[in-house]
Amino acid sequence: MLGTGLIGNFYTMCIQDKRTQDYVHSVYSRTEERAKKFAADWNIPHWTTDLEAAIQQPEIDLVVIGLPNDMHLDIVEMAARAGKGILCTKPLGRTAQEAKAMLDLVEKAGVFHGYLEDLAYTPKTLKALRTIKNGAIGRITWARSREAHPGPHSDWFWDIEQAGGGAIIDIGCHCIEITRNFIGKDVRPLEVMCWADTLVKPIDAEDNAIGIIKYANGAIAQFEVSWSYRGGLDIRDEVDGTEGTIRLDHFLRTGMEMFTAVGEGDYMAEKMESSTGWLFPVGDELNTLGYNHMFADMFNAMDDNKLPMESFYDGYIVNTIMDACYRSVKSRTWEPVEIEDWRGSSELKGKFQIKEYDASHYLIKEELLPDGRKKLILKHKQSGRILEQVV
Ligand SMILES: NC(=O)c1ccc[n+]([C@@H]2O[C@H](COP(=O)([O-])OP(=O)(O)OC[C@H]3O[C@@H](n4cnc5c(N)ncnc54)[C@H](O)[C@@H]3O)[C@@H](O)[C@H]2O)c1
Repeated sequence: MLGTGLIGNFYTMCIQDKRTQDYVHSVYSRTEERAKKFAADWNIPHWTTDLEAAIQQPEIDLVVIGLPNDMHLDIVEMAARAGKGILCTKPLGRTAQEAKAMLDLVEKAGVFHGYLEDLAYTPKTLKALRTIKNGAIGRITWARSREAHPGPHSDWFWDIEQAGGGAIIDIGCHCIEITRNFIGKDVRPLEVMCWADTLVKPIDAEDNAIGIIKYANGAIAQFEVSWSYRGGLDIRDEVDGTEGTIRLDHFLRTGMEMFTAVGEGDYMAEKMESSTGWLFPVGDELNTLGYNHMFADMFNAMDDNKLPMESFYDGYIVNTIMDACYRSVKSRTWEPVEIEDWRGSSELKGKFQIKEYDASHYLIKEELLPDGRKKLILKHKQSGRILEQVV
């Protein structure tokens, strides 16, 4: 386990807290004090402050990267050279170029790789994905994903060099991959229109952004991110299809609400801003945010010698979309998503599925009116005339 910060902690909790055959053998941290304490807290047999030595240990099969974004590429290089499997947190790279270099490294070395995108694995998301696959909401036309909170918890996130960007690179990557899963990973993202600005914080990177991604089958993905949202961690998704819709609220409203006048003086949930008053705790953060399901998929895939649901290739595609977002913010126009290595479908599917009403009409819509009459809006096939019928 490389890193003992927020994500190193969550990842370790998942692996170490469970009665499974997988365990953290060794933890790396910059300081001896932190490494020792972390190892003791989580019952980890070995700790080190030497990154290279951590990776080289013969006892380990897999390296988990939970360190700042600017370190991912170098570590992937070290771990691939050592022949270890690699799980890397999001974002894979700061740019598509970095992400592609990482993808090439693991593929050339022939080592197992997984992209730790937990939000693609939340129980709600997995259920929604199954439902969509079964056709319950028809053809997906629009997927929307929002992540907003009051800003990250460590200095390096706020430094554009180390992080590679602001809210887009930090949390836009989640939204992009969630919506990509809903629309279909086989469908090529074509172009992007993105607005971003620094509205609140004294930083060079963006603290708020909205992006629109056009896919080859006509579907649209929309993401909204903020580092200046007040009130906790807001993670919501919405998917619209021709036959239905799904809404997901992952964090602020999960069904548990409580009021406390005094608080309990303890950690309640990630990015929760208050400890008294009305609170919205999360019963089990690791499950709610998909961490457990993600690690199960990663370890199972590794055992079965196949790719997990989220691999470095997915991380690379997310980076290509984010690169296009940053170009669009500058140019204020649609920018193409430049994918040097596209492995999905090259098909451009038809935009419309037209519903027949009868031999001479298409059905546009039907609606039951408040007075009990039913209205049909039809289009005449030959003349193209639009008419309504009351039945
Ligand atoms: N849901 C998620 O998937 C999720 C959530 C948070 C963070 N992350 C990702 O995890 C990574 C780490 O984020 P975090 O939230 O744990 O950050 P953090 O600041 O909480 O922890 C970072 C760790 O890296 C160490 N570190 C910092 N600079 C270092 C350096 N130069 N050399 C060696 N160690 C260094 C710190 O001491 C700390 O242990 C980032 O890539 C971030 O994007 C993912």
